[in-house]
Amino acid sequence: MEDILKEKVVKKFRNLFGADPEFVIFAPGRVNLIGEHTDYSDGFVLPFAINLGIVLAFSPTNNDQIDIHAIDFDQLFSQKISKNSKGPADWTAYIKGVIWALKNQIVQPKGFQGVVAGNMPIGAGLSSSAALEVAAAKAFCISSDVDLSNTELAKICQRAEREWVSVNVGIMDQLISTCGKQGQAVKLDCRTLESKYIPIPDGICFVVLDTSTRRELSQSAYNTRHEEIELAAQFLKVPALRDASLTMLTKEKVKIPSKIYRRARHVISENDRVHTFVNAMKDYDLHKMGHLLNESHTSLRDDFEVSSEELNVIVDISKAQPGAYGARMAGAGFGGCALAMVDEHFLDVFIRNVHHEYQMNTNFEPHIFSVESSDGVHLVHS
Ligand code: GLA
Repeated sequence: MEDILKEKVVKKFRNLFGADPEFVIFAPGRVNLIGEHTDYSDGFVLPFAINLGIVLAFSPTNNDQIDIHAIDFDQLFSQKISKNSKGPADWTAYIKGVIWALKNQIVQPKGFQGVVAGNMPIGAGLSSSAALEVAAAKAFCISSDVDLSNTELAKICQRAEREWVSVNVGIMDQLISTCGKQGQAVKLDCRTLESKYIPIPDGICFVVLDTSTRRELSQSAYNTRHEEIELAAQFLKVPALRDASLTMLTKEKVKIPSKIYRRARHVISENDRVHTFVNAMKDYDLHKMGHLLNESHTSLRDDFEVSSEELNVIVDISKAQPGAYGARMAGAGFGGCALAMVDEHFLDVFIRNVHHEYQMNTNFEPHIFSVESSDGVHLVHS
């Protein structure tokens, strides 16, 4: 897949800039196995980088100018790096955000001419924006001859999204896009930023279930959840919900407004589920893993209230299929994608059945495909 995308991007680069690009990089999107809405309270997550993402072909210009063409939007973005100011809330905001965040680190990043394209659904919960940020940040670093660690790169991209784009995201998406490894899920401690690689068991497929719905309000609802869990931490007198336990929460129940209590119960129980899931992976206990995915969905739907009707429908249909171990909504929620864990022998029939039943139930046409793991941001050609 990466190769097809690479060819398309390189061809466009030649057309636009009349030469071969010096570098081509791939920054992956991600699926998160479990640990949803836990990263911004210093918690645990278990994503893997996927074989879908963003390819950026570029040649450094050694000056202050950036010219980058996005094939998916058929748009050329050109500006002086030193004249960075707020513009439209579209893909260019992520590039501008990265320039802004890099300026604190590199003094004045140097520019490049580039062409970018992606091969995953945009705004569906697979982290297309983090992949774009990571690809752009990596290209600026190469063009400016600066070597940043995966963690530093991820933090810069997170700052771009938080402080420039104004979505108060955690670190998961940017970190997995830099530090992913083929064949491995990564247990990330979002407080220490320590990562542990956990082999993905054989014999199963992780299937993305794109409901074909998108929610406009997801950014503001995401920020509201962030405020709610901070309030919950204040009630419990802990620095972050990562430091709380279900016993602690139950003890304080009468003092906490019911909505805030439920938000906290999701985050605390979800952190526990990450640890249990990792143990189940190590023990090759596929049924336990599936069961935890189902529990995670219930908690996100009822306590954290970030699911949607269509996500609930596709999850319920998926869980009922032969060969399905479990399913849950994935990513920020409010629309977009769910994730199912399926026995590899049942993959084709699973996709066919879920596609048919979901369409009958909702009138939306879903996009259902299994994803492979991939390395974090890397050069595919230089
Ligand atoms: C979005 C954010 C992540 C994380 C997830 C929910 O993808 O970018 O930081 O909070 O939502 O788990």
